[in-house]
Amino acid sequence: MKSLRPRVEPAPQQPEKLPLGWDKPWLAPLAGYSDLPFRTLCREEGAACCVTEMVSAKGLWYDGLNTWKVLETVPWDSPLVVQLFGAEADCLGWAVRRLRAQGFAWFDLNMGCSVPKVARQGAGSAMLRDLDNALACAKAMIDAAAPGHVSFKLRLGVRNDAVNWLDCALRLEDAGAGLVTLHPRTAQEGFGGQAHWEAIAEAKRRLGIPVLASGDLFTAEDGVRCLKETGADGVMYARGALTRPSIFREHAALLRGEPAGEIPAGELRRLIRRHMELIGSLGSEDNALYRLRSIVPRYVRSLPGVRLLRQRLCACQRLEELDGILDDFLAGCASGAGDAAPVKLDKFDPPEPSCRPAGLPEEE
Ligand SMILES: Cc1cc2nc3c(=O)[nH]c(=O)nc-3n(C[C@H](O)[C@H](O)[C@H](O)COP(=O)(O)O)c2cc1C
Repeated sequence: MKSLRPRVEPAPQQPEKLPLGWDKPWLAPLAGYSDLPFRTLCREEGAACCVTEMVSAKGLWYDGLNTWKVLETVPWDSPLVVQLFGAEADCLGWAVRRLRAQGFAWFDLNMGCSVPKVARQGAGSAMLRDLDNALACAKAMIDAAAPGHVSFKLRLGVRNDAVNWLDCALRLEDAGAGLVTLHPRTAQEGFGGQAHWEAIAEAKRRLGIPVLASGDLFTAEDGVRCLKETGADGVMYARGALTRPSIFREHAALLRGEPAGEIPAGELRRLIRRHMELIGSLGSEDNALYRLRSIVPRYVRSLPGVRLLRQRLCACQRLEELDGILDDFLAGCASGAGDAAPVKLDKFDPPEPSCRPAGLPEEE
């Protein structure tokens, strides 16, 4: 009988050091989005490093089919950080050893996700409720990895009246963390209000290890401003990259003193086409159409006619028809304005982490 298990190639060679610096923006972990095709697109646009979608340590333990699928990789998919979630030290330590045997070298622990399925296990942001267990989990991962190869992605705390990220980060540093990323909101805040960048500046003052900034980085201007205001060692683009993967290229342009500008319609078409191509060649064929139905409108959501585009995409049954639908749509947008007319993209409201936490074991 034919096996349904996806092929898990040995992970590509990983560098001795991760790229850090203002000119080295990362792609953040994005459950349901930062898969191999999207990581490849972002790397082509200038992402210096990518983090996988969060992967369940328990899912690896149970050898879950979907969990391993999230880890599909190819030789150019480097540097790559594997983000794990879980709340059991033994399981997390085992997962790091198992992944190292597969060739992965860099690991991150999710201490920020507040999706109920994750938080119910005491994982994600819920780890900040029990710092002793969080530290035991961190140490298990750190002991299992090469020195300095484990990072931690934190929120400020679980509730607004229990902000304990600094205590946690200082203890993680003592335990041997290589780096921390701060998304400076509490889990209670979700994605609401404004990210408290001043906490990132404080992290820089109080910690000796590198600090990456996350939170409200919708444009390259936001990213560069955040670096200047906080002194962070780098930024991670999340929602900003989802609507415009060119954000990495724009970030580099801004640092060179050039305006980041708007995306010409022709350039937008190129990006969408490339993403479609990558999904076709690197994604699993069975869900390529399904993926593209949600991806294409994301890039053009602020353009007129997007509702009709959605309807046409939903009715579309064959991958080969997608190109034509996209052409019709973009031609409609460009008519009267010319093909090179810039497209003003607005901010992306998060698909409020109804985000599918990749690789939750079936029994969860
Ligand atoms: C759809 C979606 C999925 C996400 N998945 C993850 C994840 O798997 N792991 C994680 O640590 N953070 C995850 N995040 C949080 C982002 O990495 C980032 O920290 C957050 O969106 C704040 O950055 P931004 O405001 O610039 O988008 C996710 C966010 C969104 C919107």
